[in-house]
Amino acid sequence: MDLASPKKTVRDVAVRGKRVLMRVDFNCPQHEDGSVADDLRIREALPTLRYCLDEGASLILMSHLGRPDGAVKEKLRLDPVARRLESLIECPVMKLNEIVGPSVRQAAQGLKPGGILMLENLRFDPREEKNDPAFARELAWLGEIFVNDAFGTAHRAHASTEGVARHLPAVAGLLMAREIAAFNKILSEPEHPFVAIIGGAKVEGKIDAIMNLMQHVDTFLIAGRIGFTLLATTDYPLANSGPQLDKLDVARQILSEARRRKRRIVLPVDHRSGPKIERGAPSEVKRGVRDGWAAADIGTETLVLFEKEIAKARTILWNGPVGVFEVPPYDQGSRALAEALARSSATTVIGGGDTARSILEFGLADKMTHVSTGGGASLEMLEGKELPGVAVLQNREAGSGKREAGSGVREQKFRA
Ligand code: 3PG
Repeated sequence: MDLASPKKTVRDVAVRGKRVLMRVDFNCPQHEDGSVADDLRIREALPTLRYCLDEGASLILMSHLGRPDGAVKEKLRLDPVARRLESLIECPVMKLNEIVGPSVRQAAQGLKPGGILMLENLRFDPREEKNDPAFARELAWLGEIFVNDAFGTAHRAHASTEGVARHLPAVAGLLMAREIAAFNKILSEPEHPFVAIIGGAKVEGKIDAIMNLMQHVDTFLIAGRIGFTLLATTDYPLANSGPQLDKLDVARQILSEARRRKRRIVLPVDHRSGPKIERGAPSEVKRGVRDGWAAADIGTETLVLFEKEIAKARTILWNGPVGVFEVPPYDQGSRALAEALARSSATTVIGGGDTARSILEFGLADKMTHVSTGGGASLEMLEGKELPGVAVLQNREAGSGKREAGSGVREQKFRA
């Protein structure tokens, strides 16, 4: 896949000898004791970090972790993340206990080429999520170039993603560039047939994504909660398996829009259900669901239908697992679909969040063209929205963007 980035990247600017202020998304799942449970996002940022260090830059890393709501939460300090990064990148990472202020400025000023600083969890400060201009300026004072490699947070207009880019030359990191290019490619010039698998436990965002994708997608394979919601407009016996009832009108609109545009929507014809969605509890596969039982995966006939479409596809997008893959045997549908994608020679793009997690768990990530690190961010791209953290980065060709962004005008380097 041609992965040209419409945004300038860290490779397009001179970083040698500079302090690079970099937004990363190290919002990694944690174990109970706070240690990192899944370091995908750290590993995926390594190429950008290594590139800067090899070029003789120093790094000031910023990330959030969890949702501390503007207050210090001991369990959400970034120390375990810094330690994991240290062991992956094999050089020291100086983790600070503050985000801004005199001691942070001093540490940044004292950085030598090859040095790495990591600020404390950005969301400990309520000004981060408010995109407070003064806070963004304080962050900007720390660096000379801003690199945004946090695709997973690019849908948030926060001080460290959007505000800061207004004060420094602002470019994409290599992960960010790869993510944008992968989604742009399938959203603008996909090879056909283009098949989209849409599932997951939420309906929000999926409806807009399906509507937007109708421009390009030939066949939708729809399961999960959005699948139940579409099935609820038919005579399929769902029992208690939860369609989102306030979305039935929109579900009808999706079906009629698909008819109008001659797009195919393939819905499940059977499900795996059980009285309790628990490991070891009884389950059965059949058309429909018994009263008092819940469906939590597609059934075998549905799988055959879905696999047939996957085998014909040249482009496949997957957003949302088709079952509760964390609880066997409800992982079987998602696992078999992932294996079908792995066998396919089509371009395969996996939305982030739970879908990416399932692909990693099945050990098939390296068989996909692209596995996104962003859940909400990738969904917003599929909805056709412009991500504020991306919009503000410099365009590769002057005048090709809607607005002049990241002009490189600095207000002040360090406040004395
Ligand atoms: C994510 O995990 O999707 C990103 O890190 C964004 O986190 P948020 O949904 O808390 O803004």
